[in-house]
Amino acid sequence: MKILITNVELVDAAGRRPGKVLIEDGKIKKVYKPKGQVKAEYDREIDGKGKTLMPGFIDMHCHLRDPGLTYKEDMESGMKAAVKGGFTTVVAMANTKPRIDNAEALKANMDKAAALNLCNLVQVCAVTKDFGEEEMVDFEATRPYTNVYSNDGFNIDNAEIMKKALAASTEYDFILATHCEPETATVERDVALLRETPGHLHVCHISAEATLEAIKAAKAEGLDITCEVTPHHLFASAMDYKVHPPFRTYPDRRALIEGARDGSIDICGTDHAPHSDADKLAGAPGINNFETAFAMYHTVFKGAGIPLERLSQMMSEAPAKRMGLKNGLIKERYPADLVIVDEEAEERVDPKSFVSKSHNTPFGRELLKGKVLMTLKEGEIVYDHGSLV
Ligand code: NCD
Repeated sequence: MKILITNVELVDAAGRRPGKVLIEDGKIKKVYKPKGQVKAEYDREIDGKGKTLMPGFIDMHCHLRDPGLTYKEDMESGMKAAVKGGFTTVVAMANTKPRIDNAEALKANMDKAAALNLCNLVQVCAVTKDFGEEEMVDFEATRPYTNVYSNDGFNIDNAEIMKKALAASTEYDFILATHCEPETATVERDVALLRETPGHLHVCHISAEATLEAIKAAKAEGLDITCEVTPHHLFASAMDYKVHPPFRTYPDRRALIEGARDGSIDICGTDHAPHSDADKLAGAPGINNFETAFAMYHTVFKGAGIPLERLSQMMSEAPAKRMGLKNGLIKERYPADLVIVDEEAEERVDPKSFVSKSHNTPFGRELLKGKVLMTLKEGEIVYDHGSLV
């Protein structure tokens, strides 16, 4: 289908400008100025008056629970929640049941995602077999299916394993994403290892000012390190709700917001971590974030006076760049992975309205600014709120 999106404000990492966009064969065919003449034919016109077109969001960190934990979420429910949240690519962690640590399991999930055709999937592979300390995964066999490896959910305690993982990330050219616990001390250890053993390190869900300081110093040395934040650590502090890493202090939260502003934090992820009510009651850590992430980030950024262009960079361009994807910008010949948002809409979070299988969030009734109205993946409408004609 050929779609023309007109009268819309375009916002990506390159800036903000009014315009219109023609989509053809799954790609952004042409980006016009507002008065540009459209000679091409199209099947559908979407009037984006008063709305904003952004590159689809790319989440470098989520949990889809498939296989084995599908009472919490599965590929389909997770991807429906993702596209409702404006995400067109998600990176799913390997802490499923069993853990994803081999080529067959990676391929099975990639096939599942392809059959759904809702959202692009990067399926993370574990770093070690079953997250243990005995055996590294077979990088040679798994690398054709993914370029992100992580034991997320668990710290890599053993420095020798971390060293091997860093070396493999260079040899096989992949991103090593780490869950660091204790956070700052582990990041400091890993930075020291990175100095000796070059690798491509991405630190997941940073939450503390001291961690950010360690990462800033590593970047200043020229080491290949990036990091991400979550919506909840930017939105709130000192909350009594179980999540890994925990809610930190108000000064930590302020430092993270400044890190987002000044570029020392690279990426806005979600750490979408769905859990059933029973599991949550039993102490499972995690927050269900896909459907609220954009509005939470937008609310925080707007409150702090950080432009939406920067949020787009952190939610789309930077993760695309880190993973080597030609995506994340509104640019001709790029995939038409796009999202239309209302920057001004205000809505209270209603966990009962989640399309995710789970509803675990401490932010119910929170008033947020910004709403996802439509999501397109390769030019196909994969989510439609119904408010655009
Ligand atoms: C994650 C989950 O539920 O898989 N939870 C979380 O609080 N981030 C894993 C984890 O980091 O414990």
